[in-house]
Amino acid sequence: MTWTRREFLAASGVMSTYPLLGGCGDSGMTRYEEAVAALREELPAEPALRDFVRYATLAPNSHNTQPWEFRLGADRVEILPDLARNCPVVDPDDHHVFVSLGCAAENLLVAANARNRAGEAVVNLDGTSATARITLGNGAGIDRELCDAIPRRQSTRSEYDGQPVSREELAALESAATMPGVNTFFITDRGKMDGVLDYVIEGNSAQIDDPAFVEELKNWIRFNPEAAVETNDGLFAACSGNPTLPTWLGRFMFDRFFTRDAENDKYAKQVRSSAGIVIFVAEKEDQEGWINVGRSFQRFALQATALEIRHAHLNMPIEVAHIRPEFARWMGIPGRRPDLIIRFGKAPPLPMSLRRPVKEVIAPIEDVITA
Ligand SMILES: Cc1cc2nc3c(=O)[nH]c(=O)nc-3n(C[C@H](O)[C@H](O)[C@H](O)COP(=O)(O)O)c2cc1C
Repeated sequence: MTWTRREFLAASGVMSTYPLLGGCGDSGMTRYEEAVAALREELPAEPALRDFVRYATLAPNSHNTQPWEFRLGADRVEILPDLARNCPVVDPDDHHVFVSLGCAAENLLVAANARNRAGEAVVNLDGTSATARITLGNGAGIDRELCDAIPRRQSTRSEYDGQPVSREELAALESAATMPGVNTFFITDRGKMDGVLDYVIEGNSAQIDDPAFVEELKNWIRFNPEAAVETNDGLFAACSGNPTLPTWLGRFMFDRFFTRDAENDKYAKQVRSSAGIVIFVAEKEDQEGWINVGRSFQRFALQATALEIRHAHLNMPIEVAHIRPEFARWMGIPGRRPDLIIRFGKAPPLPMSLRRPVKEVIAPIEDVITA
C-alpha cells in the first residue's frame, strides 16, 4: 500500500492533529530511530556470538515476523524456525519461514567471515523442521564489503529511477547469488519484465480479493513509530513510504485505500521503474532447498546494497497456489517451484525496519547446543 499524493495530503491533515489523537509524534520517531541505530551498530573487532546473532537478525524475513530462534554453543549457532511467528494465510507451508532462516544464516556467515571467524552452515532436521547449524572457525575475512552492507540493506518498496544497471553491476549480482542448489533467472528485457508484471497483477488481485490475506497483512502493519517500537516487529508504515497514523486511523485508512486497482497500479509503476527482476528457484523443493534460496537471495541483496542498488519483493505469483504452476510454465521450468521474485534498481533509501532485541531471540541457557 503506497498512498497517492491526494490521499497522503488528506492523511497529513489528520496527522497535524496526531498528538491530540493519542500518538506522541516526534518523540515516538526519535525512539524509533534510536532503536534502529542501536540494532545496526558496527560489529566490534572481536565479536561475541551475540553480536553475530544481532547481525543475523537484520536479515529480511516475511512480514518482519522474525520467525527464528538462536541456540548458542561454544563455537556454534543453531537457527531454528519459530513457527508461532509464521503467516498461515500467505505462507501455509512455512516456505517463507525457511527462506527467512536462510537469509539469517547467510548474514551470520558473512559477518563471521568478515571478523576472521569463517564458518560453515549445515542443515539439520530437528523433528520435522530443518534448522541451520553454523560452526565458526578461524578463517580469513574476505566478506568485508558484504558485511558492511548488512546494516544498510533494506527492502525498498518505492519506485526506482528507471535506469538500467551496468553490465559489471549485473555480473556482480549474478556472481553473488551463485550458490549450489539454487538457480537464478535474471530478467532485464522490458517485454519479459512486463510478462512477470502480468502474473504479479493476477496474484495481487487474488490476494486482495481474499479477506483472510488482507486481515493477516493488516495485523502485521505498525501504523506509527510507537506501535512499531512496542513490538519491534511487523511492517512499519514509513518503511513502505506511507504516512504514520494512530493505529485506529491507520486501520480505517487501510480498509479504504488498500484496493486491487490502487495496488496493481502501484506495482505496474514499480516494475516499470526497476532495472531488472531476479527469480530464485531451489533445485530441491523442501526446507533445505528453501534455506539455500534464502542464502543465495541474501548474498544477492548484500551485493546489491554494496553497489547502492535497491531491491524489493514481488512474490504474489509464487504465493498464490493456483498461479504458481502457470508462472513456472511461463518461465520455461514446468513442474518446478519458483521461490522468490525480486525487482532491483536504484533509488533513495526509505526508513530502516526494526528487529526484536537479541535477548528475545536467544534460546534459554539450558537449551545450549551440547552435541
Ligand atoms: C521469504 C520472504 C518473503 C517476503 N515477501 C515480501 C512480499 O511479498 N512483499 C514485500 O513487500 N516484502 C516481502 N518481504 C520483505 C520483508 O517484508 C522484509 O524483509 C521485512 O519487512 C524486513 O524489512 P527489511 O527487509 O527492510 O529489513 C519478504 C521477505 C522474505 C524473506
